[in-house]
Amino acid sequence: MSAPFGATGIHDSGRGLVSDGRAEDGIIDSSVPHPARRYDYLLGGKTHYAVDRESAEAIAGAFPGIRTAALENRRFLRRAVTLLAREYGIDQFLDIGTGIPSPGNTHEVAQAIIPSTRVLYADNDPVVLAHSRALLDGTPQGRTAYIHADLRAPDAVLGHPELAATLDLSRPVGLLIVAVLHFLTDDDKPYDAVARLVAALPPGSFLVLSHGTWDFMPPAMIEQIRALSTPQTGVFATRTHAELTRFFADLHLVPPGIAPLNRWRADDEPQPRPTDAETAFYGAVGRLP
Ligand SMILES: C[S@@+](CC[C@H](N)C(=O)[O-])C[C@H]1O[C@@H](n2cnc3c(N)ncnc32)[C@H](O)[C@@H]1O
Repeated sequence: MSAPFGATGIHDSGRGLVSDGRAEDGIIDSSVPHPARRYDYLLGGKTHYAVDRESAEAIAGAFPGIRTAALENRRFLRRAVTLLAREYGIDQFLDIGTGIPSPGNTHEVAQAIIPSTRVLYADNDPVVLAHSRALLDGTPQGRTAYIHADLRAPDAVLGHPELAATLDLSRPVGLLIVAVLHFLTDDDKPYDAVARLVAALPPGSFLVLSHGTWDFMPPAMIEQIRALSTPQTGVFATRTHAELTRFFADLHLVPPGIAPLNRWRADDEPQPRPTDAETAFYGAVGRLP
């Protein structure tokens, strides 16, 4: 069962709603779970189908921390963007794997600190495209744009006309790839994609990553979750701490480095903090020398 997303149209490029041709253009498939819609359900949003809710509840049956993980990931995103804007003056962001708009979108956090901030959002899910106008409501001094694009095709992102119209690649950029890479298997070449994007950024830019991990889980729980990871329902290509260091090969990690994101610069968050095992996520920020 699928439904066209309707009036906006994938080639309506008023502010950059353009397809690179790799994603399933314009078709929202409600017969299989989608990460963006499942995440929206876990965050308490309204944009999801029965398959997404069933998938989320099945994961919650195996891993009760999944809602905590989603909320903590969103908190990490806010803290990382705040750090870049407030401490380093970063006023332009490339946010790949944007997700369905939700309170605390990147431009809202960043423009509250630097109103002239410019943000280019990119996602490969047509449901995110269909809701992307909600991301284009930034400050008059700043600019936000959205492109329908795939992390696995970094050159299409970098070569997109909307990127040059939104970001100035001669000045530092914050590249956000938050809670996305665990949907890419090694066959998707995630290390090459990230390296290609990072190589296009000038010195002083930042890479912000978060990533699901099984490093803190008991083996029985891992087996239960692994059984839910199929090409039909979506893969969970979780990675270890050692594997995540590869994404930061030529970058200087900002303290505390690659850390459980429930504890990453989280002193000001509500206490007590969830445990590493409840959250099962790493977060990290690296700076280009
Ligand atoms: C769990 S959500 C994370 C949303 C947001 N980054 C956050 O952390 O709140 C993952 C998002 O990544 C997107 N995504 C997954 N694979 C992608 C790919 N290959 N290219 C672009 N986006 C992708 C999904 O469509 C979804 O919107």
